[in-house]
Amino acid sequence: MARVFSGIQPSGGMHLGNLLGALRNWVAYQQDHEAVYCVVDLHALTTAPDPAELRDNTMAAATMLLSVGIDPERSTLFVQSAVAEHAELAWMMECTVGFGELRRMTQFKDKSDRSDFVSAGLFTYPALQAADILLYDTDLVPVGDDQRQHIELCRDIAERFNRRYGDTFAVPAPVIPKAGARVMDLQRPTDKMSKSLESAGTIGVLEEPDSVTRKFKRAVTDSDNDARYDPDTKPGVSNLLGILASVTGRTPQAVADDYTQYGPLKADTADAVNELLDPIRRRYQELSSDPAEISRLLQAGADKARTVATTTLERARTNAGLIPRSPT
Ligand code: TYM
Repeated sequence: MARVFSGIQPSGGMHLGNLLGALRNWVAYQQDHEAVYCVVDLHALTTAPDPAELRDNTMAAATMLLSVGIDPERSTLFVQSAVAEHAELAWMMECTVGFGELRRMTQFKDKSDRSDFVSAGLFTYPALQAADILLYDTDLVPVGDDQRQHIELCRDIAERFNRRYGDTFAVPAPVIPKAGARVMDLQRPTDKMSKSLESAGTIGVLEEPDSVTRKFKRAVTDSDNDARYDPDTKPGVSNLLGILASVTGRTPQAVADDYTQYGPLKADTADAVNELLDPIRRRYQELSSDPAEISRLLQAGADKARTVATTTLERARTNAGLIPRSPT
């Protein structure tokens, strides 16, 4: 059975972009693949979050993954730092990736431009991401469009390692949805939707229905009142069409045919999104009442993940010429 791996940062509340770009595919792929999903708390450390907040956000992210439909009976769900092999393989990945390759990563450029302090970890972030993926002999990585470059780099790293040391890693491919791969900010539709949940441009998965409706009503469009899908010249309207298409499983062009005015498009998009979010919000409420059970599930997930990770790491260590840790 093909193996699927993906990860999400515990960065305080998930938004509609995470859900449409990645998490819905995570849920779909667990049906007929061996799925491994991870809350990547080590990646979050690259920007030095407050420790108490990181702990809370890690538990909240795991609760959210269960709420959207990740089934711990089918999928392996765990927290990255609980499986030490990720950090160890990351070092080997750092020794395989080129400085120039890391410097070309657009996410690094964006994030480092916006920060006063740029950690070395932020720079080598894609090496840790490659370790996450390669540890599980991953075939497919369901992600949003903004992760495409990191997955391409991961493929290059795997191929280089295999050339240097012999066949060690499976070479993964990204899975990116047709609609919803790049959900844009409702107020600044040329920027992608991101985590500042208090912002009028971001829809939180747990946001109150009224607030969701209000934000869609106030979404930036243009003055044409012509519902046409054209992301370059009509980014705001195209974003709404893309969201509604993704939620209803149609194409943005087909959705556009149904509308001549923006008002009904905004109202229908808000309703469709609320319908999608309702059961997730309810499930989150239920699950949050038993954090001990979630910790137990994560522990069991980490134990399961570790059995695969130790085997792959041992293979990489041996092929690279590191002496076995404990003679067998
Ligand atoms: P992260 O935590 O930023 O986002 C999690 C997932 O959500 C997708 N996404 C979006 N999709 C559509 N529109 C948007 N506006 C939007 N914003 C976010 C992302 O593409 C992602 O799939 N580096 C990764 C986490 C990671 C990872 C991995 C992913 C660590 N190791 C291994 C895959 C495999 C990240 O920061 O995602």
